[in-house]
Amino acid sequence: MRLSLEINGEDRFSLSDPLTPLVDVLRDEFFLTGAKVVCREGFCGACTVLLDGQPAVSCLVPVGLAAGCKITTVESLARDGVLSPLQRVMEEYDAVQCGMCFPGMLMTLTGFLARARNPSREDIKEALVGNVCRCTGYERIVDAALAAAQATVVEG
Ligand code: FES
Ligand code: FES
Repeated sequence: MRLSLEINGEDRFSLSDPLTPLVDVLRDEFFLTGAKVVCREGFCGACTVLLDGQPAVSCLVPVGLAAGCKITTVESLARDGVLSPLQRVMEEYDAVQCGMCFPGMLMTLTGFLARARNPSREDIKEALVGNVCRCTGYERIVDAALAAAQATVVEG
């Protein structure tokens, strides 16, 4: 069965079984390896992508269910080598963490900040509750996300 997918604004096709986890199709068929496979249980958030703008753990989404959705991966955030506003702020705040947890955090926050109106620090922490890092901390990431949210409010 041929599945039509829209990934990062491009039309793609997959011949995978529709029950294949989306993260495996992204990584193995399309070489979009930003979404990481860590727990495969929906617990860690490392595989987070956006489906129609909403964060989703792609290890638990069968690719057949993602057909018809706009799938957005971390690879789409920087355009022509220019970081997204959120990525820039993360860099400024020295908040970038390891390659296992951080892509998922970026995607969760990208989806959250696109919808949130003037979020509080607590709102941001709540948004990140499904993204696990066991080795550093969340404070700089939350600081940076708050700054990105405030910049959006100021810029309109
Ligand atoms: S690998 Fe998907 S939530 Fe952990
Ligand atoms: S899991 Fe990435 S810095 Fe802790």
